[in-house]
Amino acid sequence: MTNEQKYKYMLILLEGQLSSEKNDLANLSNSAAIIKAVMDRINWAGFYIMRENTLVLTTFQGLPACNRVEIGKGVCGVAVAQKKLKRIENVHEFEGHIACDNATNSELVIPIIKDDVVYGVLDIDSPYIGRFTGLEEEYLVQFVDKLNKYIDWSKV
Ligand code: SME
Repeated sequence: MTNEQKYKYMLILLEGQLSSEKNDLANLSNSAAIIKAVMDRINWAGFYIMRENTLVLTTFQGLPACNRVEIGKGVCGVAVAQKKLKRIENVHEFEGHIACDNATNSELVIPIIKDDVVYGVLDIDSPYIGRFTGLEEEYLVQFVDKLNKYIDWSKV
């Protein structure tokens, strides 16, 4: 399978999950698991959700991670502050990067935005420098778009 085929399959798995289960927590748990199962060369995939103006850890796959990330801090907090996707080739060159797993070398953070409100981020880490490309960006943005149709972020 090419990476593109894998990512298309990942979206099919996600649609299957979201269309067959109503519970947001179950859906987000399996969403992180689907990414971790399908994407190779990654060591962490999960969600931080906005609560009281701070990002709070929710469902994920990987090593235990920091519970909270302040807006404007770390890659996740900057993605929220700027309302912009962050693809970091080498996290050691990103000022203020928050290291949860020392093995991480690159990171992709997709802000979750609905009607111009930021509800959180999808964060994916890799032990490989430059692991994420435009292809991963394209499919993970679609992944978040799909989640946005089903998840009530304010209630997770
Ligand atoms: N590296 C992130 C923190 C979260 S962990 O990667 C899971 C950051 O700099 O915001």
